[in-house]
Amino acid sequence: MDVKNVRKDFPILSTKRNNKPLVYLDSAATSQKPNQVIDAISTYYKTYNANIHRGLYEISIKATEAYTESKEKVARLINANSYRNIVYCKNTTEAINLVALSWAESNIRENDHILLTKMEHHSNMVPWQLLAKRKKAIIDYVNLIDSSILNIDDYKEKLNLNPKLVSFSHVSNVLGTINNAQEITNLAHKNGAKVLIDAAQSVPHMPVDVKKLDCDFMAFSSHKMLGPSGIGVLYGKEDLLEEMPPIFGGGDMIRSVDFSESTWNELPWKFEAGTSNIEGGIGFGAAIDYLQNIGMSNIHQHEIELTQYALKRMSELGYIKVHGLGIDKSSDNNRSGVISFTMDKAHPHDIASIFDSQGIAIRAGHHCAMPLVNKVIMEPAVARASFYLYNTKEEIDQMINAFEKVKSILKIQL
Ligand SMILES: Cc1ncc(COP(=O)(O)O)c(C=O)c1O
Repeated sequence: MDVKNVRKDFPILSTKRNNKPLVYLDSAATSQKPNQVIDAISTYYKTYNANIHRGLYEISIKATEAYTESKEKVARLINANSYRNIVYCKNTTEAINLVALSWAESNIRENDHILLTKMEHHSNMVPWQLLAKRKKAIIDYVNLIDSSILNIDDYKEKLNLNPKLVSFSHVSNVLGTINNAQEITNLAHKNGAKVLIDAAQSVPHMPVDVKKLDCDFMAFSSHKMLGPSGIGVLYGKEDLLEEMPPIFGGGDMIRSVDFSESTWNELPWKFEAGTSNIEGGIGFGAAIDYLQNIGMSNIHQHEIELTQYALKRMSELGYIKVHGLGIDKSSDNNRSGVISFTMDKAHPHDIASIFDSQGIAIRAGHHCAMPLVNKVIMEPAVARASFYLYNTKEEIDQMINAFEKVKSILKIQL
């Protein structure tokens, strides 16, 4: 991977912050966008802006084709059968809520179990809590080992509760742990549970194959994978999507409407009521082209190298506590480019502010995983650096230097 060339495609990466080149280490929150994506959206606005599906004129047909083609690109990226498996939502959160409000609403009953893990993002907890309240269902959580990895024995034990659904993050947005999605899915299926994978932090960063995994549902967001915000994916197996009722009614999602009742459009449009995020879909398609041109395996490998390098340099400092697998236990298979950390005597918000003064953007807080951060890691907040295809070892060196700045500004001896 030629990172120097990649960086040239991202205009924001040549801007300055506080008179220093921007070092963007917050891609787990949202990624930066290459010219190819910006241009695809701007070309749509400038040359073929029109509503989709209904128009009989050229630019509307072109917009419709571009929008549908973007779904075909998503399908190819994750090896889904076809665009019919790809429902566009606002984001990962909405995709998970769609499963909760449609499939789960029809299939989860009183006293049924739903199995999650203790490393979930709020997006993969709160929809289930709302559902559990409505249905009087029960949520169980798989425990972690060393606050870092899933305890598979605990998972197997909790499968004995016969959950109807197992839902888990493929990659933790706090710990960077890559969960063994294949093993988790196989075990769930052997036990008769359906499986939803929150792939918000995996699909943007590594090859993911829904056919091989055989998951029933998968959710992820365009904005974390070089595309625009406001568009995300619910992948679903066709038979499940067919049997699920729509949750939003309106234009585009119908086949026919009468005064008393209506029938639904075919997949995936049945779930997409009203005018779609057309420019979002078009930009997302351009983002997928960009990622696939480089190759998801190459991107993953690059991030592994950055992560191992950062973990090593952070451990050499001697005063950084990494939450998640450290340099001694991390490997290509279990660790992605998200590193959460704390430092004695320095609040994560102070670390983030001092980093910002050096032009370095990291995140600090609970990262929308309050139960994990507060009750498992047992910290009020953690700082987090996350990497993507455009980051470099030099940027990690700058981050390492910024730790010394934190020490000197806060006057702490460690
Ligand atoms: C693991 C995980 N799940 C879900 C989400 C929610 O994504 P979105 O805000 O795009 O819906 C995130 C976002 O950070 C995430 O990291």
